[in-house]
This record gives sequence, structure tokens and C-alpha cells, in this order.
Amino acid sequence: MSETNALVIGSSSGIGAELVSQLCDSNLYHQVHAISRNEIAVAHPKLHSHEVDSSDEVQIAKICETLRESGPFALVVCCIGMLHLVSNVEQVSPEKRLEDVTANQLEHYFKVNTVAPMMWLKHLPKLLLKSVDTQVVLLSARVASIEDNKLGGWYGYRASKAALNMLIKTSQVEYRRRFKTVQIVSYHPGTVDTGLSKPFQSNVPKDKLFSVDFTVRQLLSLLPTLDINHAPHFIDWDNKSIPW
Ligand SMILES: NC(=O)c1ccc[n+]([C@@H]2O[C@H](COP(=O)([O-])OP(=O)(O)OC[C@H]3O[C@@H](n4cnc5c(N)ncnc54)[C@H](OP(=O)(O)O)[C@@H]3O)[C@@H](O)[C@H]2O)c1
Repeated sequence: MSETNALVIGSSSGIGAELVSQLCDSNLYHQVHAISRNEIAVAHPKLHSHEVDSSDEVQIAKICETLRESGPFALVVCCIGMLHLVSNVEQVSPEKRLEDVTANQLEHYFKVNTVAPMMWLKHLPKLLLKSVDTQVVLLSARVASIEDNKLGGWYGYRASKAALNMLIKTSQVEYRRRFKTVQIVSYHPGTVDTGLSKPFQSNVPKDKLFSVDFTVRQLLSLLPTLDINHAPHFIDWDNKSIPW
């Protein structure tokens, strides 16, 4: 049994919840720490859940200080992301054309998809040890690729995930200087059957709409194959590189 821990941020997400479950059932990590705005209903001897709102940097800093006591973390996966939102106060949906773009929507996309994960990258060093290899995976999307953007549309989602990629590249430079043992992964899981993709699944061929079970198994199986010397990685579910 490993003595290192895993941390899943955004653990109530479709992908995050399944990841927590598979990590708890594996022998890969000693403890599994799950971060969510909402309390997790699942109980497991390995599972430690923490209610944290990742839109509040103070809460992120505080939980990282607390988690430092739990021992080293060898895996961190950030599942935070937003493509659409319908609530009593606001509505966000991916823009089809220029006229759909609003400052409010852009701000919302950047707050969730870019700023919140970056605040985790900022505070994670509190949990790391120079003697322990750590993989930090941030759920991104193929549409974040600037080079691959042939279809257009989805301005806010694309731009906020592309900005996250730049922050990942920049953070990797500094992490390499300060830790040497940290590799950051920008990960495209494919189109996964979760609440996030639900309204956009009609044009997805059946064999290209992945279950969360398959998605998490793919992620966990490819992580050990990644070479720290080539980090940061921007890869898809099939372990293929995506152009930045
Ligand atoms: N599903 C897909 O087809 C697909 C494809 C490509 C990329 N991705 C990426 O994979 C990741 C997980 O996707 P999913 O499909 O599992 O999504 P999901 O079920 O919609 O969950 C998204 C998670 O993001 C966090 N979040 C959302 N809004 C937030 C806010 N305002 N403040 C703080 N946290 C917020 C939530 O975490 P808590 O509620 O737990 O705090 C939520 O559980 C995302 O980054 C997404 O962009 C998904």
C-alpha cells in the first residue's frame, strides 16, 4: 500500500465523483481527499471529504494548510469546469456567434475554468515534497487548442480553457525550478456522459460518448506512462498529444 495521497478537486463532478470512487477502491493511494462545494454522500475508510468553495482563494489556502498534515500527495486532479449554467440568477450557454458574446458570460467562464484552477496551482506547493513525484492533472478540453480551432464558436469556454493551458505551461516552468518532481497535465477526457455535456450530446456518435467509468480508467492507466521530462503534457483520453 502506497503512503502517498490523492486529491480530487471538484469531486461532485460527473468525472470527479467516479475518480474518487475508483481511487478509493484501488491500492494506489493511502488516503483520497475530495474537495467539493457540496458534502459528498459516499463513505469509504480511505475517503476524506472537505467542503471548499474553489471560487474563494482564502478557502483554498486554508485547506492546503490543513492537508499538509496528511502527508505527501502524489496525485492531484482538478475537475473544475463549466460549459453551461442555468440558475435563478443567471444563465450561461456556449456562444454560437459573435453577437452571443457578453462580458458577463466571459467573466463567468474565466472565473470557473481559469481562475479557480489557477488558485489551486498557486497553493498546491504547500502539499508537495521535493522527494515525492507528483502528477497534477487539470481537466481541460480539446477545444482549448488554439492550433486545432477550425470550427469556431464556444468563445468563452475555448478561451478560458486556452488561458488555463497558458497558466499550466507557465506554472510548470516554475514548478520545475522549485520541485523538479512535479509534472502538470492538461487533460482532454473526450466527450463524457455527464451533466456538463448533456445538452450537447445529440451530434456525438454513440461510440464517442464515453462513460465516466471508462474515462477514469483511461486516465488512471495512462498517468504512469507520462514522462516528466516532457511536461507539461496536453493530451487526450487516448494518450495522444494535442497541439497547444
Ligand atoms: N464531460 C465532458 O464531455 C468533458 C469534455 C471535455 C472536458 N471536460 C472537463 O472535465 C471537467 C469535469 O467535467 P464534468 O463533465 O465531470 O463536469 P460537471 O459534472 O459539470 O462538474 C464540474 C465541476 O466543476 C466545479 N464547478 C462548477 N462551477 C463551479 C464554480 N462556480 N465554482 C467552483 N467550482 C465549480 C464543480 O465542483 P464541485 O461542485 O464539486 O465543487 C463541479 O462538480 C471539466 O473541467 C470539464 O471542462 C468535460
